[in-house]
Amino acid sequence: MDVVRIFDTTLRDGEQSPGFSMNTAEKIRMAHQLATLGVDVIEAGFPISSRGDLEAVRKVAQEVRTVPIAALARARKDDVNAAIEALEPAAAPRLHIFLATSDLHLRVKLHMTREQALEAIGAMIRLGRNSVAEVEFSAEDAGRTDIDFLCQVCRLAVEAGATVLNLPDTVGYAVPEEYGEMFRKVRASLGDVEGITLSAHCHDDLGMAVANSLAAVRAGVRQIECTINGIGERAGNAALEEIAVALAVRKESFGVTTNIRLEHLFPSSRMLTEITGALVAPNKAVVGANAFAHEAGIHQDGIIKNPLTYEIISPETVGVPSRLMVLGKHSGRNALRMSLRDLGYEPSDAELGEVYQRVNALADKSKNVRPRDLVAIAHEVLRRRPAVVAAEASSTA
Ligand code: KIV
Ligand code: ZN
Repeated sequence: MDVVRIFDTTLRDGEQSPGFSMNTAEKIRMAHQLATLGVDVIEAGFPISSRGDLEAVRKVAQEVRTVPIAALARARKDDVNAAIEALEPAAAPRLHIFLATSDLHLRVKLHMTREQALEAIGAMIRLGRNSVAEVEFSAEDAGRTDIDFLCQVCRLAVEAGATVLNLPDTVGYAVPEEYGEMFRKVRASLGDVEGITLSAHCHDDLGMAVANSLAAVRAGVRQIECTINGIGERAGNAALEEIAVALAVRKESFGVTTNIRLEHLFPSSRMLTEITGALVAPNKAVVGANAFAHEAGIHQDGIIKNPLTYEIISPETVGVPSRLMVLGKHSGRNALRMSLRDLGYEPSDAELGEVYQRVNALADKSKNVRPRDLVAIAHEVLRRRPAVVAAEASSTA
């Protein structure tokens, strides 16, 4: 079965959106978790954006040796050189160069003609290839690019040495049939070239990022760019956990696999919320606190008789602790610590004490404390500690 590679951009497209920024220690901690999760590429940052980001990419590249590390660059010399510098310590570097190709972006944003765009794309890919063996090219706003021009861009990028062609729906405008069709046309226009991977990168402005990414897979795409919890510009990127689980649950239909270790999805999601302080919506697919909660009596009855009645994914499959206890007034600290661990938190004694007090106060008011309440309390308490301490606590766990 073909493997669809998962290119994680939590630390770049995810991190660059408001409320999700991470310092170097946090990026390293998250990158290790992504490696455990089994992603195929980690995009660690956009080195030209600041010296700090360049250093962060370097550190991630130094520390995470088992997964290729990517760095983003516009099709400009300074950007490409900064990304090359950042990737220098990487065991398997990937240089990711992009330029917008839609007429709108070319005219209004870049003040470039199509010919100038082609020139810049070819020259920067060739420059990158002098130092880095693997170069990915992204045609920003591909979803709104004239298809004949897009095909021309792709042929030129391949001739210049790019081995991965990423065609983003930058503004989340595409619908699945259209997005898939774009890839079919590009693939046909490339002919029989060997060793070229087509890649999808979707934003969620119309809530179709995951659907569009899956349509791309049906059209032959073998790399998907996505983020944990779907964080990213504006409405976010395609959510990694949703894509990985959809491809696993509907494996027969898609006929592909991924290298994602599904049982690390929930802990990865929780680590990101702990680092960024941004919780996922309770009803978020796969990793939301309610994703496996059954409230209605009829549903509960069905689940007891056979979970398949109302659950197409078991919580254990994606790493939701199976023994999330119902905490109440009489739960002890050990039970609480275990429940917190199950949710992916590793509190210090002082933090445990504070969570304990709050849980008791809540249990006084309402009989039971649900996992969702516990997540909210733990999140409030644990987000206050410095990230480095958090990283140490988790690495000694
Ligand atoms: O959305 C987008 O077009 C991007 C590219 C830079 C890959 O993030
Ligand atoms: Zn993007």
